[in-house]
Amino acid sequence: MMGWQKMLLWAIGLSLLAVLAAVAAIVGIDSYQYRQNQKRIERFAPAEAGDGKTLVVFFSRSGNTELMARKIAQIRRADVLPLQSSRNQIGLTGWIQALRDARSTDADITPRTVDLSGYDTVYIGSPVWLYSPAPQIYAFARNNDFSGKNVILFNTMNSKFEPRYIDDFKRIIEQNGGNFKKHLYFVRGRMGQQADAETILQHTEQLLQEPH
Ligand SMILES: Cc1cc2nc3c(=O)[nH]c(=O)nc-3n(C[C@H](O)[C@H](O)[C@H](O)COP(=O)(O)O)c2cc1C
Repeated sequence: MMGWQKMLLWAIGLSLLAVLAAVAAIVGIDSYQYRQNQKRIERFAPAEAGDGKTLVVFFSRSGNTELMARKIAQIRRADVLPLQSSRNQIGLTGWIQALRDARSTDADITPRTVDLSGYDTVYIGSPVWLYSPAPQIYAFARNNDFSGKNVILFNTMNSKFEPRYIDDFKRIIEQNGGNFKKHLYFVRGRMGQQADAETILQHTEQLLQEPH
């Protein structure tokens, strides 16, 4: 083998190792945060019914959006509805699936349709994946009737989202009769320097104090 060919093989091998190490680090941090978040989520009072006027619907893979959802529900005295999904769970497989599914606007969710007729306001939340809200909440938005409801989208993310995906979400809500009120979000920071559970909760409280 020629000298330059050996160099090329080394370069490819080292790049592959770097990618594998990065993926292992991301999935490891995700799983750690998930466990920490679950401990904090357990401290919320067990699902008390809200006042029946406000509903918080959410999908959360590693618990950050769930923290935001639980806090919103506590402050607004809302009912809470977690969306279950067969894909995108915590761990390597779920992470790869999340990357692959990120651009979709449909997903396998339970429940898919909900009787929203008694509610005035529906909060809908998810993580941001590849700059857009996760497909689980697009699926919820597409399959439900929001006639006469105020709808507030909320997201957690590491760094950024693309406004055009928020516009897409807004359009779906409006097509299904809803009044899209606003987008609340919390940026947790880049991996390795992210906000902890208490900071997410405090920030959510502040967001809800802003007039809307
Ligand atoms: C597949 C994947 C893609 C992501 N893409 C983005 C992104 O485009 N922008 C961003 O700020 N964060 C991104 N993130 C980070 C998540 O939005 C962030 O960790 C979020 O708080 C996770 O919420 P959860 O714990 O409720 O699942 C991504 C995470 C995953 C797993």
